[in-house]
Amino acid sequence: MSDSAGDIVGIASRKAATAALKAHVAVIKGTPMRKAISEALAEGGNLGGKERRFIAFATRELSRHIRRLNLSATTRGHPMSKLHLPEDQAIFRYALWRKEICRAEAHKIMTEIQLPGPIRPRGIPDQLIRAEVERTVELDFGKTPLERAMNVHSFPTWLAEAINDAAPDGELDAILEALNREPTLTLRVRPVGSRDALVAELLAQKYPVEACAEVADALRITDGSRAIFESRWMKEGRLQVMDLGSQLLAQFCEAKPGQTVVDYCAGAGGKTLVLADAVGPTGKVFAWDLSEKRLKEARSRVGELKIRHVSFPSPPRIDLADLVLVDAPCSGTGTLGREPDQKWKLSAKQIDELAATQLGILKDVARRLKPGATIIYGTCSVLRQENEDVVRKFLESHPGFTERGMLRVWPHRLEGGGFFGARLTRA
Ligand SMILES: C[S@@+](CC[C@H](N)C(=O)[O-])C[C@H]1O[C@@H](n2cnc3c(N)ncnc32)[C@H](O)[C@@H]1O
Repeated sequence: MSDSAGDIVGIASRKAATAALKAHVAVIKGTPMRKAISEALAEGGNLGGKERRFIAFATRELSRHIRRLNLSATTRGHPMSKLHLPEDQAIFRYALWRKEICRAEAHKIMTEIQLPGPIRPRGIPDQLIRAEVERTVELDFGKTPLERAMNVHSFPTWLAEAINDAAPDGELDAILEALNREPTLTLRVRPVGSRDALVAELLAQKYPVEACAEVADALRITDGSRAIFESRWMKEGRLQVMDLGSQLLAQFCEAKPGQTVVDYCAGAGGKTLVLADAVGPTGKVFAWDLSEKRLKEARSRVGELKIRHVSFPSPPRIDLADLVLVDAPCSGTGTLGREPDQKWKLSAKQIDELAATQLGILKDVARRLKPGATIIYGTCSVLRQENEDVVRKFLESHPGFTERGMLRVWPHRLEGGGFFGARLTRA
């Protein structure tokens, strides 16, 4: 079985460790991870770029490996339940993470965390932490492959079982490992077809990029740096941040020049832009979302780029569409690399509720769709309940529709998350 040990991102200075611990304490107390990281970065004082990257990375890692690190604490005779202060839990988990996942040396770990500082209050003595990072213990991950995978990769039991239910035989371990990986920064290049020329230009200017073989317009940043955000190509709208799996899903729509397309769950407009580029100025995109706040972002994005064939009618005129993309609200279990705290926030009940919402949205769209038109149903979930099961239930209750292909993007086969798509055409 593979292990999640890997290179660390950034520099683990004392200041960076302090800020990461603060962020993890906030997460333990219920603050959403993104907010906890941005607050720790803002309060962290004068931090270098590599320290900032470590803080975000370490905060995600501490959530990612909770189950395994707690197992280690218990095996060592100091279960987390006996550490009453969240600060103590955080510092002990951090020390065990640095030892067992990062394979850092004991003296280096102690330099990062020993008193005086970093976080207070602290009930756990330095001597205890030092003794634990100096000794190695054998962890009992369980007997069955499923049990071992959920302990090694730290997944709640219900979620590991649900992923196992959808996973190809023997691939659960690799899938969970991939869902624990730090996401790569992937971008989409506009206009369509200009990726290779831009990659050459960016390389000439020493930006660390490479073309992604799987999608014609995608490129990735190879060293995790963020300098590209300050580049003129980003400001000119030639680059758009987008997961590779999202780009594949948008490509799966096969929108054609001149078509009328509805982006029904448009959110902040990520896929709206891809659809707009695909249908071109002779086509139309109607973007819609339940959330007015998100739609406002999409509107301003489209406005800044001066794309005139995207509009936001309400209702979104599904009756006129050749194609409707339903990029449905989902569990996000395909993109846990970015949001590892979600592993511990989601529940099996929520998955049932999401599946009911997804089916409800499909039914609403189907009612208004013209004959011959197609719905593309998409999620960033790896769970069968939100993917194949929703499609099956929809088809059972809508005999006028046929399934014309499905897309399954597995995170261990394609770097960039787990995604699903289904093409549903009305006769
Ligand atoms: C996965 S996100 C969409 C991401 C977006 N397509 C993109 O590419 O950036 C799902 C969206 O569905 C919206 N949503 C939730 N329930 C909805 C409903 N009943 N009808 C339409 N949109 C809904 C949410 O507000 C959210 O923006």
